[in-house]
Amino acid sequence: MSNNPSPAELKLGVNIDHVATLRQARRTTYPDVVEAALRSEAAGAKCITAHLREDRRHIQDDDMRSLRKNIRTRLNMEMANVPEIVRIACDIHPDEVCLVPEKREELTTEGGLDVIGGGKALAATVACLRDDGIAVSLFIDADSRQIRAAGDLGVPFIELHTGTYCELAGAAQQRELERLIAGAEQAHALGIRVNTGHGLAVHNLRPLLQVPHMDTLNIGHSIICRAVFAGIETAVAELLEIMADYRL
Ligand code: PXP
Repeated sequence: MSNNPSPAELKLGVNIDHVATLRQARRTTYPDVVEAALRSEAAGAKCITAHLREDRRHIQDDDMRSLRKNIRTRLNMEMANVPEIVRIACDIHPDEVCLVPEKREELTTEGGLDVIGGGKALAATVACLRDDGIAVSLFIDADSRQIRAAGDLGVPFIELHTGTYCELAGAAQQRELERLIAGAEQAHALGIRVNTGHGLAVHNLRPLLQVPHMDTLNIGHSIICRAVFAGIETAVAELLEIMADYRL
């Protein structure tokens, strides 16, 4: 990190999946994911993220289309590298795609993508999305071999997986934080922009601000949970207040 830190604009991407989770629990037409996105933007979010899962457990295809039409910031589509979803991404044309590993039985995304093992199929998807003008990000652990492989694929972004950091405490959390710092430095040296996400919340965010070169934090579950009591605008504002202390 610089000896003379300067303020950096650290952007917040709001993941609105769990607004759809509430709606799908009863197959109602509310709460409206677009309203959640627009309120988040009005409160200062610079990106809206939605994960179109193969099992469609929360976000639906029409949600992606409505978000594309109505939001004013950037649309980041999270997705697995499977042909059906890649076709939908090329049709909807989000500003960004973040490729994630996906298992049907998981509660949420577990662990980062295996870029090394992704082989030709991953390289082909990255090329296809890039040729369509979509900025590709890979959701990966702060593992130097995976970051190097992301560099070899020429992606403009990675998203470092913060789930492990969020689950740990004390010295173990500090070690994971150091791994994230080293990962961000490695990616930056390779010319890759660094996003972070998973498990982030007001109570665990401040130490993460030691990670250099961060562009966007993607946060979902804690925002929607806080919104139940305080409203989404307040949930977003509380995070932005902490993020305002970020220094490069
Ligand atoms: N980033 C990625 C790649 C994710 O898969 C998720 C979960 O959908 C998030 C960020 C947001 O995580 P959380 O909901 O725990 O804030």
